[in-house]
Amino acid sequence: MLLTGSGRLAPAGRSPWAIQVTDGRIAWIGDPGRAPADDDRHDLGTALVTPGLVDSHTHPVFAGDRSDEAAARLEGAPYTDGGILRTVAATRQADDATLESLVESRLRAALAAGTTTVECKSGYGLSTDEELRHLRILRRVAERLPLRVVTTFLGAHAVPRGDTLEAYATTVADDMVPLVANEGLADFVDIFADAGFFDLASAERIARAASAHGLGLRVHAEQLTRSGATELGVRLDAASVDHLEQLDQDGVTALAASNTVATLLPAPAVVLRDRLPPARALIDAGATVALASDANAGTFGGFGSMPLVIGLGATLLEMTASEAVAAATAGGAAALRRSDLGRLEVGAAADLVVWDAEHEGAFALNLGVVRPLRTWIGGVEVQA
Ligand code: NIG
Ligand code: FE
Repeated sequence: MLLTGSGRLAPAGRSPWAIQVTDGRIAWIGDPGRAPADDDRHDLGTALVTPGLVDSHTHPVFAGDRSDEAAARLEGAPYTDGGILRTVAATRQADDATLESLVESRLRAALAAGTTTVECKSGYGLSTDEELRHLRILRRVAERLPLRVVTTFLGAHAVPRGDTLEAYATTVADDMVPLVANEGLADFVDIFADAGFFDLASAERIARAASAHGLGLRVHAEQLTRSGATELGVRLDAASVDHLEQLDQDGVTALAASNTVATLLPAPAVVLRDRLPPARALIDAGATVALASDANAGTFGGFGSMPLVIGLGATLLEMTASEAVAAATAGGAAALRRSDLGRLEVGAAADLVVWDAEHEGAFALNLGVVRPLRTWIGGVEVQA
């Protein structure tokens, strides 16, 4: 198949362009005048084309509604673990069919908005049986959808009622991580390492269990406090540390010198009226930056919001439009340790989105209202 266009290919901005796709991968990319012969040609006109978006941080497995809590926070209520535990109670009540259909509709919304790879966390179960059930549900939904789904075990999201941090961290590290790994239910382990949740000692214990079982590491870091979770993640070779609202220059320097991606989540920062992460400083220092949605039950509910997240990156986080698109594609892929995704280059997966826009500046200009016209995943056109 040969795709051609007279519009822009973002983030690099090539125009005009041609891409030949063979066996689901990009086999050739360049000037349409020099394109290889191909009977299966599609001209995409002047539309903006990007790699399929990679949303490297979501929490889609939950039931219940916490919009009342969002309203209470706007009247001054603090953000505590009580919110997560409320979602845990509602989610434990939901049967498999109910949860599966909630997850499926959330992931379909993401696909309809241009996401072609999505990382999905458990973390609203907080018991061995429930966490395994949620990861199995993710696996089942992933089989039904054309999206690429990467799964993460987030048993260390909050300490369940009636348990102590010490005892629960031991259960996560010694019981849950081995079961998740043996059943092949997750690619990564994530830990909410912040004040009132998991301290650095318990986070390290769980992270070491993950690595002993061959699972990658990601960390919710520096959202509520400057805890040092970033340096812990760097030291333990985390694929990504996420949030970073409270990060300082030392943390920026540590990330810039590491293989750990800085994943920024502007949407929950806005919803919580939090500080914004130091995106400009991270990029200028040479850190790899990803933009992701963090769609979840309690701090930002927008599944299908990646076009908005790119717009927030470009407007609030002082990124250029092209940097924001790169962070939501190649950056997200790097955060998942997938160099074959999120790039329009020879050898990469042919995951592409054609947008109802002519320039990547539309993500900033039309904040949240830029839609895919057509989407290909692995060279196959998919219907959202
Ligand atoms: O990434 N920070 C921790 N976890 C989620 C929020 C979870 C919730 O409040 O339900 C987040 O923002
Ligand atoms: Fe999160």
